[in-house]
Amino acid sequence: MDIQKIGIVGAGQMGNGIAQVAAQSGYHVRLMDVSSGALDKAQKTIADSCDRLIKKAVLTDEQKTQILNRISLTTQMSDLKDSDLLIEAATENQELKIKIFQQMDQVAQPSALLVSNTSSISITRLAQATSRPQKVCGMHFMNPVPLMKLVEGIRGLQTSPETFEIVKGVVQKMGKVFVESTKDMPGFIVNRILMPMINEAIYALHEGIAQPEAIDEAMKLGTNQPMGPLTLADFIGLDTCLSIMNVLHEGLGDSKYRPCPLLVKYVEAGWLGKKSGRGFYTYSK
Ligand code: CAA
Repeated sequence: MDIQKIGIVGAGQMGNGIAQVAAQSGYHVRLMDVSSGALDKAQKTIADSCDRLIKKAVLTDEQKTQILNRISLTTQMSDLKDSDLLIEAATENQELKIKIFQQMDQVAQPSALLVSNTSSISITRLAQATSRPQKVCGMHFMNPVPLMKLVEGIRGLQTSPETFEIVKGVVQKMGKVFVESTKDMPGFIVNRILMPMINEAIYALHEGIAQPEAIDEAMKLGTNQPMGPLTLADFIGLDTCLSIMNVLHEGLGDSKYRPCPLLVKYVEAGWLGKKSGRGFYTYSK
């Protein structure tokens, strides 16, 4: 099956990044979001991101124009009916994702593949909400999508080998490295390991072991991470970090995945990290 048209549901941080790299690799992209404001913001983010890549001599002005021309915007799910591959990139919320999978299944042509950018939720469960579980798998991009090399591929219990191979081919065409998570278990590979580390950094702060700057500096200089775990949590979004910890805690049933109470408090306060202007640090919006 030759994938040419890609539909993306959700124009947030992940969705617009995926739209950009897909268009950059020659795919025709239809980016869908229920909010027209989110679509306008996504278009601007993509244009700004292309400008940064032009400055770094990765892209030319002409390529930027081609990329923007290959992306069309819509608020209607039905406009994704011609897509060969539909990528769900909505908020990390299981009920919402199930609803989106049901809608994508209804509008998409029978041959189309449906994938999720979920960072932790069961692919098998999302697949079960559709009439084509063999054509569903996980395709988990990392943030910031245009710069990060990895895409995790996750097989649901019923994913066919053919579906997985096609998705792997798309990832490689996008210039990314595809790493397979053989089992569809909560958090897959990256978040199974990354989130408990971030959660532990929040416990270190909660227990007064060190100030945020010291925790981040120690992990940056002591373990060669590009940014400290608390800064990274702010970039990912503290609500997303909490959702992933809850999925690990509930799905694996081990108290070692208990979300730190300080993380819960920050999310309750609306301190969601960079996107809300305040998390472990403050940001000008
Ligand atoms: N999320 C969102 N934006 C990020 C980001 C992240 N994790 N990391 C960096 N950025 C942004 C920076 O804010 C910066 O934006 P501006 O140009 O608007 O200031 C831009 O990317 C470039 O960053 P740098 O100045 O650091 O540029 P660089 O070229 O030296 O390095 C980088 C870029 C390689 C992405 C480096 O910043 C890095 O390694 N960051 C950490 C990335 C990371 O760990 N991502 C994984 C997150 S986990 C995930 O995505 C899975 C999940 O499900 C939660």
